[in-house]
Amino acid sequence: MNKHELADLRRDFAVGGLSESDIAANPFEQFAVWMNDALKADIIDANAMTVSTVGEDGRPSVRVVLLKYYGEEGFAFFTNYESKKGRDLTANPFAAMHFFWPQLDRQVAVYGRVEKTSREESEKYFKSRPVDSRIAAWASAQSRVIESRDVLDKRFEEYKEQFGHDVPLPPFWGGFRLTPERFEFWQGRQNRLHDRICYQQDGDAWTITRLSP
Ligand SMILES: Cc1cc2nc3c(=O)[nH]c(=O)nc-3n(C[C@H](O)[C@H](O)[C@H](O)COP(=O)(O)O)c2cc1C
Repeated sequence: MNKHELADLRRDFAVGGLSESDIAANPFEQFAVWMNDALKADIIDANAMTVSTVGEDGRPSVRVVLLKYYGEEGFAFFTNYESKKGRDLTANPFAAMHFFWPQLDRQVAVYGRVEKTSREESEKYFKSRPVDSRIAAWASAQSRVIESRDVLDKRFEEYKEQFGHDVPLPPFWGGFRLTPERFEFWQGRQNRLHDRICYQQDGDAWTITRLSP
């Protein structure tokens, strides 16, 4: 296959800036300001984030998941614990979460340690999902090789018949909550002179630094 050039694709970033005098002292507050801006801007899947993990083989993996809640107690998403990401995080509980909101010329990265949410917390979220999504959680051995689409559809129908509307939380399914140790807020600026503000946890406090773009 020929080489496909994308080098001419470029745009300038001119929406705004990020200065030390505007930002919150607390990164969770700063994150809430930017997440609310993204929601107000009607960015599709504003809560979608790329989560990167590193497994036992030392190699990184990435995928998009939906952030379901965030706050001082952590940033949570829900998944199959036996998936690739689930196995990676069980072996090595450090992860990175990344949001890209192109309409606002912004990205945010959040780094920290991950732990499983309690069964009660997972149950509460699981019950809030549409019934077919709950059945799908049972039907999909996420990240495992499957012979065909038909096999998946058949498993879905079988679980649907077995559970009806009363679908229990699968033992292999639940939440991961990341406790942030570091944040980076990035605002695109003109001439590639972007603003990058980092928060690093320092005991109970957060140290704020600016990085070169
Ligand atoms: C917008 C979007 C949202 C997604 N949300 C989730 C999610 O919340 N949980 C999840 O397990 N997978 C979600 N997925 C699917 C994952 O990207 C991924 O394919 C799946 O979790 C398997 O990943 P793994 O094999 O690396 O574990 C989402 C995909 C997209 C594109």
